[in-house]
Amino acid sequence: SERTLVLVKPDGVGRGLVGEVISRIERKGLTLAALELRTVKRDIAEQHYAEHQGKGFYESLLEFITSGQVVALVVEGERAIEAFRQLAGATDPVKANNGSIRGDFATVVQNNIVHGSDSPESAAREIKLWFPDLG
Ligand code: GTP
Ligand code: MG
Repeated sequence: SERTLVLVKPDGVGRGLVGEVISRIERKGLTLAALELRTVKRDIAEQHYAEHQGKGFYESLLEFITSGQVVALVVEGERAIEAFRQLAGATDPVKANNGSIRGDFATVVQNNIVHGSDSPESAAREIKLWFPDLG
């Protein structure tokens, strides 16, 4: 089995979609290994989104992710990384399939409700960043 780092972003928390996201994770057959409601400090946000440094939307993205509470989760199961990316849908919510979280609940590329790690390397790095004490 495999672990992935999931975030319900400030738009998802603000719109009351935490239960909806967790419900979809559970219905898919994945399980929760860690869960915490928190506000994101600037340095954590910078490390989390380091790959996007220098892009036009980087500052705006950091502002957005630090603008309110997020729910951070470690999600576990067979092929959890790919499975959650499928639940989330494409980055641009207007291109995401109906039935995916982004496809069903968003229209704006930045404000796309959830984050999910995109590879085993990203998952390991992000889980260590968000849950350093998790065994
Ligand atoms: P994450 O799971 O959040 O990492 O999304 P992703 O892997 O589907 O997309 P990516 O890592 O390429 O981008 C990270 C986040 O930056 C996206 O989820 C969006 O919130 C935001 N983002 C991506 N592209 C754009 C863009 O063109 N404009 C803006 N404003 N935000 C963007
Ligand atoms: Mg990404």
